[in-house]
Parts: sequence; structure tokens; C-alpha cells
Amino acid sequence: MPPSLLITGAAGYIGSHCVEALIRQASAYGLQGVQLHLLDDLSTGHREFLEKLCALAESHRLPRPVIHEVSLTDRPALEQALKQARPEAVLHFAALISVAESVQQPDRYVRNNVEGSQNLFRAMQKSGCQRLVFSSTAAVYGNPAGAHLPLPESTPVGPVNPYGETKLAMENAIAEAAREWGLHSVIFRYFNAAGASSSGLFGEWHEPETHLIPLLLRAAARGEKLKVFGSDYDTRDGTCVRDYIHVEDLACAHLLGLKALRAFESQGAAAQVFNLGTARGTSVLEVIRAAEAVLKKDLGRGVGYDIHPRRPGDSAVLVADSARAREILGWEPVHSSMENILRTAWEWERR
Ligand code: UFG
Repeated sequence: MPPSLLITGAAGYIGSHCVEALIRQASAYGLQGVQLHLLDDLSTGHREFLEKLCALAESHRLPRPVIHEVSLTDRPALEQALKQARPEAVLHFAALISVAESVQQPDRYVRNNVEGSQNLFRAMQKSGCQRLVFSSTAAVYGNPAGAHLPLPESTPVGPVNPYGETKLAMENAIAEAAREWGLHSVIFRYFNAAGASSSGLFGEWHEPETHLIPLLLRAAARGEKLKVFGSDYDTRDGTCVRDYIHVEDLACAHLLGLKALRAFESQGAAAQVFNLGTARGTSVLEVIRAAEAVLKKDLGRGVGYDIHPRRPGDSAVLVADSARAREILGWEPVHSSMENILRTAWEWERR
């Protein structure tokens, strides 16, 4: 029987790029003939992405993916989807992801992210699926004052916003499921996902958009000013420093994580946690300057910006030590130069 995989949040930003990579590289990762089950409630994801993924799978001679338009908060429907899919593993991307929004609506984040994930884990247990690849975040580290940079996975966690708290609660629920019923998992703590697929099919598309790179590119295209949130952080130029990682490098980590899950099973059920970043921090002002270089030819003008107050919930510096992913998974970020991130994001925005 060809394998089956269920992907939650497949119509979202990182989920769609990972499914694209899965389709294009299925054979290389021992997933010939894989039957994909794409689950999304389309509250923030895009039907258009699902349609493109279905067409892509068929053009790669894979079975047409099964679409489950299901919310993680709908337990019976979720259990039915798992029962139908009988997946060998679940890749769980679905979540609300805005730091700023989570500060304003913390309860909604708990309902969707924590309760929704618990429903998913219960449905997995019921259907006998014991393999999970989970999307976590650098936001679990919060403001790691005094911590050594870049941050290894052993850095004490301490989220400073509800979004990070919900992701940490999910990591804890995964650890509990490992103890209680032997769930095997890989947990990826993404730093700042950015950029777009080199195929041009997928890219960053959030409504409303809150992320720096798309907002910066849109402001530049319209000749408007970007709002820079805070210039009084304890960083080299006063603006926040982040570790921007290309979404195609994240996708590649998921393929390697899926493969590694089988090997981890012989080593017991504890969750394997990996940071995914480049170990290179870039400040907001440095991103603006890098964007000016990329856009110069197309726009012939610089990128304007204004300094605004700090945005609640923001950490000053988040930079990843990903040595563990390199050593254990053989992962190497190869798409994540700031130039490539901005160029692919710009090509996507122009479409
Ligand atoms: N920023 C601006 N102006 C904007 C938008 C953002 O100055 O218009 C700044 C933010 O204040 C922050 C930096 O740009 O300092 C990056 O902000 P993003 O909103 O792009 O990303 P975040 O770092 O807030 O969050 C992202 C993901 C989270 C993840 C986190 C991990 O959205 O899911 O990276 O580092 F947890």
C-alpha cells in the first residue's frame, strides 16, 4: 500500500510550501505514490493553494490529494478525517500565528491552537497514527536575557506573548502524548519564515498581513513608508533582530524530519526538538537596506520608513543555533540568503 500523509494547515504559508516540496521530492524520500490528505478550515488559508497542490500532485503522477475542509475545533469531523486517511504521519502546521493578534485575542489563540491540537492528537491516537511533525516557533524562547546567542534548543523557554505560550503548551501536550501513548514526534522551532517558492506558485499571503518583509515590499511598491516598531532595543542599531529563514529551507527540514522519524522510533518516544534558522541575525533596518538593493532596479528609489513605538509582545533578539538539525537530520539552509529571501518574496508580491 502506498503511504498516506495528513497535513493540517496545507492551505497556509508554510504548509503549502512543504506540500509542494513533498510532491516534487516524494520519490527521493521513499514516498512514491503517496496519498496526501490536505486538511484546512480555510479560515486563514487559501483554496487556491489547495487547487494548485492538487494539480501539481497529478502532474507528478501522484494520486489526487483528498481535501478535508475541517476545523481542528470540530472533533467529530477531525476524527472522521483521520479515520479515512489512516496516515502514517501527520504534519501539523495549522495554527493562528500572529504575535500582535494573540496579544489582543489570547482566548481565541488558546481555543484554536491548544484545544485544536489536543483534538488532533486524540484523533491520531484513536486512528492509530503515532508519528507527528509539529510546527513550533522561536517565540517559545521569549526574551532570553543573558542567554548565549545563537540560541540552542536547551535555552530555557519563557514566551512573552500568548502566541508563544500556546505553541509551548502544544509542545508540552506532545511530550505528554509521548509518555501516555507512545507518540513519536519531531518538533521544529521555526525562526522567521520568509521568502516564496522559486516555482512562483506559492508565497506569503496573510490577511491581514503583519510580517515585516511583505509589508516592507508593499510599502516600497506603493511609495509609502514602512512603520518600524521600536528603535530603542538593546541591539546594534536599536531595532529588533531576527533570524530569517527561507520557507523552502523549512520545507526541506520537514522531508528530512519525516524520514528521521522512522529512525527515532527505535530510540524511544521522546519528542525530538530542532531549531530552524541560520544563526545569522538581521535587524529591521538591515532588512530595509537589503530590500533597497534588491528593489533598486525595479523601483529606482529607496524604501521610506518611520519609527513607531514598540509593538507589544516583540522579543528584542531571536537568532537560532541549528547545529542539532544539521548534525542529526543533515539539514542545511541553502536558500536563506537575505538577497534570495527578498528576491523571491518580491517576485511573489509582484504577481
Ligand atoms: N516589524 C516592523 N514593522 C512591521 C512589521 C514588523 O518593524 O510593519 C518588526 C517587528 O516589530 C519585529 C520584526 O519586524 O521586530 C519581525 O516581525 P514579524 O512580524 O515579521 O515577525 P515576528 O518576529 O513578530 O514573528 C515571526 C512569526 C512568529 C514567530 C517568530 C519567531 O510570525 O510566528 O517570527 O521569531 F514566532
